[in-house]
Amino acid sequence: MCGIVGYIGMKDARDIILSGLEQLEYRGYDSAGIALFHQQEIKIFKDKGRVSHLRDICDFSFKTGLGIGHTRWATHGEPNHKNSHPHISNSGRFVIVHNGVIENYKKLKIEYLSNYEFYSDTDTEVIVNLIEYFSKSYSGREAIRRTLNELEGSYALLILDKEEPEQLYIAKNKTPLIVGAGESGITIASDVIPLAGHCTTYTSLNDKVFGVVQSKSFQLFDYLGNDLSVQMKKFNINNEDFEKGDFDHFMLKEIHEQPSIIRHLVQEYFDNEKIAIPKKILDCIKSSTKINLVACGTSMYASYMAKYYFEKLCNIPSEVFVASELVYSTPLIVDKPCFIYLSQSGETADSIAVMKKFLAKGFPSIAITNSPNSTMAELATHHLNIFAGKEIAVASTKAYIAQVVTCAILAKALSGQKTNLKNNLNKTAMAIEKILEEKIIIKNLAKQIFTASDVFYIGRGIDYWVCLEAALKLKEISYIHTEAFSSGELKHGSIALIDKDVPVLAICTQEGTNSIVRSNLTETIARGAKGIVIAMESLSDPTDDIILPDVAHYLTPLVSAVVCQLLAYYVAVLKGNDVDKPKNLAKSVTVE
Ligand code: F6R
Repeated sequence: MCGIVGYIGMKDARDIILSGLEQLEYRGYDSAGIALFHQQEIKIFKDKGRVSHLRDICDFSFKTGLGIGHTRWATHGEPNHKNSHPHISNSGRFVIVHNGVIENYKKLKIEYLSNYEFYSDTDTEVIVNLIEYFSKSYSGREAIRRTLNELEGSYALLILDKEEPEQLYIAKNKTPLIVGAGESGITIASDVIPLAGHCTTYTSLNDKVFGVVQSKSFQLFDYLGNDLSVQMKKFNINNEDFEKGDFDHFMLKEIHEQPSIIRHLVQEYFDNEKIAIPKKILDCIKSSTKINLVACGTSMYASYMAKYYFEKLCNIPSEVFVASELVYSTPLIVDKPCFIYLSQSGETADSIAVMKKFLAKGFPSIAITNSPNSTMAELATHHLNIFAGKEIAVASTKAYIAQVVTCAILAKALSGQKTNLKNNLNKTAMAIEKILEEKIIIKNLAKQIFTASDVFYIGRGIDYWVCLEAALKLKEISYIHTEAFSSGELKHGSIALIDKDVPVLAICTQEGTNSIVRSNLTETIARGAKGIVIAMESLSDPTDDIILPDVAHYLTPLVSAVVCQLLAYYVAVLKGNDVDKPKNLAKSVTVE
């Protein structure tokens, strides 16, 4: 989604903002822009396209210590020059960048701004002109406060006022905004990454907070205008965490990090042979009669594995809900459920909306995220970290593996039984390393797939849940239409889609379903499909395409998913796609 970077201080604001916007590219965007304060003027450069294009059109002939920048992921109006941020008020006094969606912008336009001209299709232009409208009767700061009190929706805002060249304004509601302080200035961004190298301390703004930022200090206020105290945290993230190293893409780097993430989780959550999950989390789940898992996309597919673990390893009935549906259609809630939210970013708007809804109804929530300072981690009753490290590629890989592992550990802890999980996880990490060493086999398989216009994954039980994730991965970065089917369902309709040479990939890791999935695959081959088998070594035939090293039967998704991640990666590379920043997608989906 949109990215924001602002800077005020002694360093070159343009440099910090442009580099910061490049670091936020992983979030997904279609246009970029920057506003720089220079000699009582605010100079704006913006256009559709990449930050590299913004660099080309930006004026480098002057230096300034104050500016705001933006990458836009279109919500209101197509990606083009006029809809790119920053936006400017009619008189030119205020300039704004905005991440989020204003729900009542049409109403505000009619109520206050009938005399104003609008040059874009965005909701943002309403905000900046509303500030100007109030500034006719009040100070800049008061005009901003009054505007914020009118806005409904989500926003992170950076605002420049031409009459105040020594400061910028910030505001936040339901969309992340982080303020970092360093010796030479203050950086504000939608993510911690652009703060690295410039800040020693930082804070994440709470909802409905606005602030005035100067080069050496900043003040925060609530919407009544009351001063708020600020708690700064130590900033200890390195630049290397955000670099590709020797890998061609972040996605490939992140796939390779998976064995060490599994080992890290073992270190974090095991005390010798005993599992060390905080007691308050275990008590919270134990005092409920059902687990409702809530998530979106890849995190939702990891939730299916979690459901399996909670039911099979510790007998707790569990159900998976798509967050975007659960916001609007409340299921029948019986007994005493506890809600577990899986989210890599911890900022997914759909999941946050559900969390707020059910917290308000008094149900406890546990956020399992990769972002301990995220909105979800802070809102939830309890938080469990998946320790995957920053995930930059838009297509999630290591976070999926880390979520599944964390939930397996949690389920084993809840079971209270003696466990061999630690050994099994270490063995799984080695199995993934073997797959990575032999990834040339998967690279070659990709050559058989990249020209297809449809691909199908089939499996049963936990293999089917991996198929769902595998299909999502392939479609999001290769743009090939891919479907996942429970193999038994095929003949109830979907087999009609099978055509000559359509690749059908069968995942066979479970003894109980291996032969039936293979016979379902044969049914598709009989109709012309190109059958491809991914099987566990102990269940494999010599003709199988990919052989997975054996691991504990309930951990097989950790190895089969890695094969599917690599396959999606190589197919996308062969197609010449932008693997880390696939079209139309955003890393952190902060609008509902
Ligand atoms: C796909 C992907 C998305 C996310 C989804 C939820 O590769 O990354 O499907 O899983 O948008 O995001 P989080 O996990 O941040 O809540």
